[in-house]
Amino acid sequence: MRGVKETRREDKTLKRRSEKINNKKYNIMEVKELKQAFKEAYGKAAEMVYFAPGRVNLIGEHTDYNGGHVFPCALSFGTYMLLAKNDRRTMRFKSLNMPEIIELPFNMLTTPLPNNSWVNYPLGCIAQYIKRGFVPKEGYDMLVWGNVPAGAGLSSSAALEVVTACAYNDIFGAGYDKTELAKIGQLSEHEFALVNCGIMDQFASAQGKKDHAIYLNCDTLDFELVPVKLEGIKVVISNTHSPHKLDSGAYNDRVAQCKVALEQLRTVRPNLKNLAELSEAEFNEIKGAITDQVALIRAEHVVGECQRTIDAVAALKKGDIEEFGRLMIASHISLRDNYQVTGLHLDTLAEEAWMIDGVIGSRMTGGGFGGCTVSLVRDEAIPEFIEKVGDAYLEKTGIKADFYIAEISDGVHKVE
Ligand code: GLA
Repeated sequence: MRGVKETRREDKTLKRRSEKINNKKYNIMEVKELKQAFKEAYGKAAEMVYFAPGRVNLIGEHTDYNGGHVFPCALSFGTYMLLAKNDRRTMRFKSLNMPEIIELPFNMLTTPLPNNSWVNYPLGCIAQYIKRGFVPKEGYDMLVWGNVPAGAGLSSSAALEVVTACAYNDIFGAGYDKTELAKIGQLSEHEFALVNCGIMDQFASAQGKKDHAIYLNCDTLDFELVPVKLEGIKVVISNTHSPHKLDSGAYNDRVAQCKVALEQLRTVRPNLKNLAELSEAEFNEIKGAITDQVALIRAEHVVGECQRTIDAVAALKKGDIEEFGRLMIASHISLRDNYQVTGLHLDTLAEEAWMIDGVIGSRMTGGGFGGCTVSLVRDEAIPEFIEKVGDAYLEKTGIKADFYIAEISDGVHKVE
C-alpha cells in the first residue's frame, strides 16, 4: 500500500505535470504578448481581441451528422484573434505560426485559396457573411494564435472558424446568436476545407460553458448544459501524437456510408429522416434492407451510439458515473469494430486505461484514427494512469503520449 507521503508526492508531481502541460508546453501566451506581436506584424495597435476554445467530446461520436445527440465540452485551449481596421480595402491574415502575411482584396473573399491554406478557415467564415448580403466597408488586419495541440482532434479548426465568425458578427453588425456562429463555422468547413462535418465542434466552441458539457440534439439544435464538475474525478485527455490523422477523405467516406444506409432503409421506411430516429429495436427489425455490408456496420454504430449518449447523460444526471464509464467503453468498442476509426494508437491508449483501477471510462474522442482519447479517472489513480498507459503506449507504438487534465471552459467571447 502506498503511504500518505508517497501519495502526496504523487499529487505534487501530478500538479506540476499538469501545470507544465497546461502552461509551458503549449506556451500559453498572455494577451499582452499577443498584442505586442500584432504591433510587430502590422506596426499599429490591435483594436479587438476574441477567443474561441477547442473541445473534447465525452460521448456521442459520429452521431452529429446523423441527427443524433452529442455531449462535448469546451476546453481552455483555443484560438485568439486580434484585429484592427486598415485603410487598404483588403483583409490581411497572419498566424503567429507562419512567417507571411496574406492579403486579399474585397473581391477575393469568397473563393478558397489553393493548397489547403490555413487562411481558408477564417476566409470561409467571412465568405458566409458576404453570401448573406453583408458588404465589407473597411479592411481589417488580423492576427491569430492558438494553443490547441495541432492534429490532436481537439477542434483547432473549429476554434479558428468560430473565433472569426464571432469577430465578423461584430464587424458586420449581424447580431447572430452563438448557434448561428456555429453554423457559419460549419459551412466554412464544408465549403472551404471540404470536410462534410457535423455541427458538434463548432457548436461546442460557440456555446461551451465552464464546468458544463453540452447535451446537444444535432437534429433540432436544442441543447442543455449539464454540470460535469465531478467530485474526486478528472477528465483526462491523452494525445496519441499519432501520424495517422483523420483525413477529410476517411471522414467524408463515413458520412457517405451513413447516407447509403439511410437511403437503403428508406426503401422500407420512406419517411425516415435520419439514422438517429431509429431505436435499436426498430433498427434491428428493418436493418435487412441494408444490402451494403459496410454501410450496415456503420449504421449499427450510429444507432447504438445515439442510444448510449442518451443513456450516458441520464446516468450522469442520476449520479451514476460508473454507468457513464461503461457506456464510454462500449462507445470505443463500437467505434473500433463497427465504425473502424480507431487503430493501434487509439486502441492502445483506451485498452490500457481500461485495465487500471480508478479509471471509470476511456474512449477515443473526435473524428478518430489519430488524435486523443478522453478518460474519467479518479484523482488518486491519475499518476498510475499516466505512468502505466504512457509506458505501455511507448512500448507498443514507439511514441510518447501526452496527458492533459481538461479544464472545461466557456465558449467563444470577446476578450477586449
Ligand atoms: C469530427 C467532426 C464532427 C464529428 C466528429 C465525430 O470532429 O468535425 O462534426 O462528426 O468528428 O463525432
